[in-house]
Amino acid sequence: MKQSQDFMAADYPTNDGSGVINCEAPSNIALVKYWGKTAVQIPANPSVSFTLNHSKTVTALYYKYLENASPEVSFDLIFEGKFNEAFKPKIRKFFELVETYVPFVKHYHFEIHTHNTFPHSSGIASSASSMGALAFGLIQLEKKLNPELSESFLNQKASFLARLGSGSACRSIEGPLVVWGKHAQVKESSDLFGVKPALEIHPVFSDYQDTILLIDIGEKSVSSSQGHQLMHGHPFAQNRFAQAHDQLSKLLIALEIGDLDQFIKITESEALTLHAMMMTSQPYFILMKPETLRVIEKVWAFRKETAVPLCFTLDAGANVHLLYPKANKKTVLDFIQSELLIFCKNNAFIDDEVGSGAKLL
Ligand code: DP6
Repeated sequence: MKQSQDFMAADYPTNDGSGVINCEAPSNIALVKYWGKTAVQIPANPSVSFTLNHSKTVTALYYKYLENASPEVSFDLIFEGKFNEAFKPKIRKFFELVETYVPFVKHYHFEIHTHNTFPHSSGIASSASSMGALAFGLIQLEKKLNPELSESFLNQKASFLARLGSGSACRSIEGPLVVWGKHAQVKESSDLFGVKPALEIHPVFSDYQDTILLIDIGEKSVSSSQGHQLMHGHPFAQNRFAQAHDQLSKLLIALEIGDLDQFIKITESEALTLHAMMMTSQPYFILMKPETLRVIEKVWAFRKETAVPLCFTLDAGANVHLLYPKANKKTVLDFIQSELLIFCKNNAFIDDEVGSGAKLL
């Protein structure tokens, strides 16, 4: 089984001059949720997500060789075309955590030009896609320095580095389905990086749709990082972690055989359990809004009436992800237009679907 040490790189002395790596990484939507962690981004339970296709971070990583390595990684951050100081501490922290594994980074000055394809204030977490894109970019630089490294090792290492930036980011390197966290039924699964489970996913899921209703677009009152911490000493934590293992086993079977009823049951249960954990932690908090519940009620009524296998999931926020087969797209979009848009801020939603992960541009 892979250990963190297996990802340590040599301090390649090669001067690779200067250049640019253009890449992108998508966001992902968890079906079985990661909620709770121990030191250095080790998840308390395994999770699984669909990689998204359109909601992504695009990054141009300019690098310039420095004759003398700097004591801490030297970089500038240019977000949406402007120098950005506010996001720098998070990137600095990321570099501090990853520099043992990519020591060559101290031999470069980086200019990180980055933007998201979704609006910053949409309430869509950009940490998964932004950390995914940055980690993937660094790994492309390592590949230049050591062309012998295999594609599969490099993807694993990109996921490993992304995890150190933000846990869920490790599920944004590959697609369409990624498991992160040790699980008895997923061979090679690891707490250190995401893996594609060795199963043939049923065709109905291969182009599954995710329409994201933007219910609340402001800053969240409690961040995910704070929420994870509140699982320490949470009265239901151990049962929740055990439940995640069980739901993941069942979900993988449903994904393989195309069992939509079971998929819906587990996905919605996971979303509500995530929010139940928030509501029962100390201090307790609620991230759903009244509109979130109105949408859920409407989805349930629509499903009962039409038998269309539409279901929802939630992240750590008020927005609602609507998941459904592509074959039902027209019916679902009509339903969203006529009945759900009134619950969205400025009638806004994002139309996304399952995708294949990070790539070079
Ligand atoms: C509710 O990955 O954002 O979206 O590791 O602290 O950066 P950090 O947390 P983050 O947590 C995501 C939690 C979630 C569920 C999930 O994506 O599995």
